[in-house]
Amino acid sequence: MSKSPKNDLIFNIDFDEYLDLEQYRERGGYSALAKALAHDPKISIREIVDSGLRGRGGAAFPTGKKIEMLRNNSETVRYIICNADEGEPGTFKDRFIMTHIPFQLLEGLTIAAYLAGASKGYIYVRHEYPEAQRILRSGIQAAIEAGLLGKNILGSEFNLSLELFSGAGSYLCGEETALLSSIEGKKGRPRLKPPYPTQAGLWGKPTLINNVETLANIPKIIDKGASWYRQIGTVDSPGTKLISLSGDVKNRGLLEVPFGVTFAQIVNEYGGGPPIGKTIKAVNIGGASGVHVPPEMLNTALEYKACAQAGITIGSGAIFVLDNTRSILTNVQNRVRFFLHESCGKCTPCREGLRQANNIIDKLLRGEAGVKDVDTLERYTRAIVNASFCGLGQAAGNSLSSSLTYYREEYLAYCRENRELNSKEETA
Ligand SMILES: Cc1cc2nc3c(=O)[nH]c(=O)nc-3n(C[C@H](O)[C@H](O)[C@H](O)COP(=O)(O)O)c2cc1C
Ligand code: SF4
Repeated sequence: MSKSPKNDLIFNIDFDEYLDLEQYRERGGYSALAKALAHDPKISIREIVDSGLRGRGGAAFPTGKKIEMLRNNSETVRYIICNADEGEPGTFKDRFIMTHIPFQLLEGLTIAAYLAGASKGYIYVRHEYPEAQRILRSGIQAAIEAGLLGKNILGSEFNLSLELFSGAGSYLCGEETALLSSIEGKKGRPRLKPPYPTQAGLWGKPTLINNVETLANIPKIIDKGASWYRQIGTVDSPGTKLISLSGDVKNRGLLEVPFGVTFAQIVNEYGGGPPIGKTIKAVNIGGASGVHVPPEMLNTALEYKACAQAGITIGSGAIFVLDNTRSILTNVQNRVRFFLHESCGKCTPCREGLRQANNIIDKLLRGEAGVKDVDTLERYTRAIVNASFCGLGQAAGNSLSSSLTYYREEYLAYCRENRELNSKEETA
């Protein structure tokens, strides 16, 4: 497992460490909550806005702005939800936070609830994380006993009742509106947006939904200030990002890197590069919802603006390296099959588009498809991305479209026409 490159970041990963409440407080934990409670919420909200913190769950929405939207809502009943569903394949960063530094998350969540004016909260943890669920349950109890959750937190007027909610294994329930339906006891299906959860969320009330990593950033911002936070990372993307690095690199594992490092640095310096004797064929950035890019693009900086310009989705920060022995088609098909399995089937482009995409790749792999099928695959991919109802379908086409752009030759090499041509050339 890899370690962070320096030791004054936001998470300072140490896999051998678990900080209980006492240890967390000994290291200054919960001083940020005390500080926030002592001031008008507007002051701390300004600090978060100024820090430039953006959501780490995938959509990168400015966190301070989201909290401000809740604060400015005239509805008095408001909720906070921590999205700990962590369903993106190849992502394991939130699990680290929950199982090693759970009080950094609980403190961040409590501060965010106070600033947003929410007195009831949920942590939606994926079913597949029993250890994280156990640790968080006992953490919530310990925080209640210490006066850090529940009524009159740290002697203030602020109350927060916090409950853990277990998911049931659906990737789609990580999508914020499907997650709301799931907590409400309905089918975990996405809702039409707007209204956004900040306007009408849980049981129709304004709701702040943030990812684990996002909330766990907040204590440091409040404690040390936005200008301290902005010293890490870049002007466009301050702070750090947790990266779940896997695939064909020497050092796989979790990393905390300041924004601004290049993907080449992540893969070659922190990851140690490909195995001996192998080269990098492609890097998948952003998980199953992400894109496949060639090694030439690894000099792009891990930064929201630079990535958007290069067509790279940072997403949850999952990076999967494929060496030269891997098949792009097989890898992309794994992702297509994942989405096909997780699709709720509500809309045709996602349900049928993914099914057809899977069939075409099957046909290509069997050597029964032609160049026309690759064109059809491209057309279906555009429909999946542009016409799907929710983020699952919209992102499901990313690995297809990027691989069709950068690895078209590999798709074409499987085509009937080219196989015939190759065999004629061989016999000539
Ligand atoms: C299909 C799908 C699955 C998602 N899964 C997750 C997830 O597991 N965890 C998460 O934090 N966000 C997930 N998201 C993003 C959430 O909808 C939402 O944007 C996020 O929780 C907001 O928090 P943030 O602003 O802190 O990033 C998912 C989105 C989609 C479309
Ligand atoms: S895009 Fe897919 S998951 Fe989303 S609503 Fe349509 S069918 Fe369901």
